[in-house]
Amino acid sequence: MDRQLLEQKKAELIKKYGPWTGHNIQLPGNLYTIGEKITGDEIKLKRNIQIIADATQKPLNQLRVLDLACLEGLYSVELARQGAKVVGIEGREANLEKARFAKEAFGLNNLDFFLDDVRNLSQSKYGSFDVVLCLGILYHLDEPDVFYFLEKISEVCTGLAIIDTHISLSAKKTVGFKGQKYQGKYFREHTPWSSLEKRKKALWASLDNVKSFWPTRESLINLLANVGFTSVYGSLFPPDAKEPRDRVTLVALKGKKQQLLSTPLMNEVKQS
Ligand SMILES: C[S@@+](CC[C@H](N)C(=O)[O-])C[C@H]1O[C@@H](n2cnc3c(N)ncnc32)[C@H](O)[C@@H]1O
Repeated sequence: MDRQLLEQKKAELIKKYGPWTGHNIQLPGNLYTIGEKITGDEIKLKRNIQIIADATQKPLNQLRVLDLACLEGLYSVELARQGAKVVGIEGREANLEKARFAKEAFGLNNLDFFLDDVRNLSQSKYGSFDVVLCLGILYHLDEPDVFYFLEKISEVCTGLAIIDTHISLSAKKTVGFKGQKYQGKYFREHTPWSSLEKRKKALWASLDNVKSFWPTRESLINLLANVGFTSVYGSLFPPDAKEPRDRVTLVALKGKKQQLLSTPLMNEVKQS
């Protein structure tokens, strides 16, 4: 697509859905979805691509990647342009149409977008992935959905999951799931009397649930261990100066559980 056609299609999308809200992608012909400037999400893109390369130790073009709640497609498009096979799932047409526009601008046949609720994730529907990106979506789900969702992420993930999420800094509420207790707090997404139509128009919010459940850091780590990840790390570099105190990027690895020989008693100790 030449620049003129891209500009025309971009204008049509803005007329129908409003301007891009987050993902500033440089398109062919030096046309930007938002503008020729750093708008904020670029540091996270840089961080997450580096994590994927470092943690998998594989060329990106050998990876199958799932981008959950992909918004306007920045991560999906970047990874597909680097050669990965990418699936992006997004619950709002207004966001997904913009992501599809970027896909088409680059002619990316290795990128598939689906309009779906991430709560419908399953291996039978979407297959398995070397890398799962769970960025800015976990904190939009209520309990028990948030627990089932993490189970599904583990089900489809064969190697690495990156979880970029808000956490609760205090244990205000305790919730049980499958015999375990998790602490955190509720967060208001929409007013209970708002219409579904109005909720749909809040382009960054939960799809329908009026509140979400934010686990504490400790509970989130326990959850990741309980759904099957064998190691969990916090990402500290590159830093994001604007990141609030209640936001974390966790790197969860799905490996083979190791058994100790020198201190076998430790093999029986449950750690979450
Ligand atoms: C804060 S944005 C984060 C987007 C992107 N992953 C990022 O990190 O830049 C939240 C996104 O989640 C989407 N979303 C919220 N709940 C969803 C659900 N249940 N299923 C699919 N998408 C959902 C919203 O439409 C929005 O695009």
